[in-house]
Amino acid sequence: MSETKTPQDTCVLVTGGCGFIGSHTVVVLLQRGYKVVVVDNLSNASPVVLERIIQIVGQEAAEQLTFCEADVRDAEVLEKVFSQHDIDAVIHFAGYKAVGESVQKPIEYFSNNIGNTLALVDVMRRHDCKSIVFSSSATVYGDPDALPLTEESPKKPATNPYGWTKWMIEEILHSLVVPDPDWNVVLLRYFNPIGAHPSGLIGEDPKGIPNNLVPYVAQVAVGRRDAVHVFGDDYDTPDGTGVRDYIHVMDLAEGHAAALAWMAGRTGCEVFNLGTGRGSSVLEVIQAYAAACGRELPYVIEPRRAGDVTANYADCTKARELLGWVARYGIAEMCRDSWNWQSHNPNGYDG
Ligand code: WQD
Repeated sequence: MSETKTPQDTCVLVTGGCGFIGSHTVVVLLQRGYKVVVVDNLSNASPVVLERIIQIVGQEAAEQLTFCEADVRDAEVLEKVFSQHDIDAVIHFAGYKAVGESVQKPIEYFSNNIGNTLALVDVMRRHDCKSIVFSSSATVYGDPDALPLTEESPKKPATNPYGWTKWMIEEILHSLVVPDPDWNVVLLRYFNPIGAHPSGLIGEDPKGIPNNLVPYVAQVAVGRRDAVHVFGDDYDTPDGTGVRDYIHVMDLAEGHAAALAWMAGRTGCEVFNLGTGRGSSVLEVIQAYAAACGRELPYVIEPRRAGDVTANYADCTKARELLGWVARYGIAEMCRDSWNWQSHNPNGYDG
């Protein structure tokens, strides 16, 4: 990806662009003037997302958006996408993401997440497009020895196949630059993305029982579930519940745009944490959400969930210094925007 190109001349392929983080990133890219091609097989996303994206960005920006309903593993389709569009860079979100399901379906998780990445970089190489941003996760740090986590903190063994796919895809992408220094790889390690676009038009829409805390709390708030199950109150934390670095999905989306701008004209492989640097406990999140929705939210204490760590939060100095990016929103705004989305779309994109 050349340094001299403006966003208006830059075409970005976004795999998984209809998903939670993908859709918010597509909005930010279109608003900055990028041309965007989304490839998504809609296996865990709704086509309504595209209409909502267009509603947010307006008709003129929406003209720069192309959607292709396809699986990233479909080499023929991907080949066509690269032949029809002059893709400068790829942001790769597409993949399965449910931790618990990954334990039950390891073959599907390894095959889909790793298989689609290999299919993607193979086509990219053929078309001499060698700039890729990968959607990685703080899960690669495992149970940390020390906090906050910097990019130098060691990677630890994952506790589930989902985590291993993030771990291994990082290694795969890192390996590309060794024999071919033209590759330009950015690995973004997200902490815990929550919240929604302030318009309330796009947000997180998990299928079935939510695995993650905030989508579950949101469904309790909207009356779809009775009480939040708090997984453990005997951790070595101020209130005994697990501590995480929650980050607003709009901050995360801005982080992708900042990474794209930074990587133009560069080569190599660089890792960035994207978090706020602040930890919040499960009970603090429930309280913040209660304040946002204006009512008490019932919760019950349950045993610890297997594989959970006590606490993690990021040191985001590197992203600030190199990308010029900092998270702007706190937990109150994250809960406000999540509630705005959830209350206007109680059943997600299904109405
Ligand atoms: C947060 C805290 C739970 C649900 C995982 C993946 C990560 C990323 C995000 C996903 C913990 C507690 C949770 C509930 C609870 N990838 N909790 N009741 O485990 O930090 O990270 O999701 O796509 O890679 O590992 O996030 O939201 O599940 O949990 O008490 O119903 O909330 O124990 O302390 P986690 P989470």
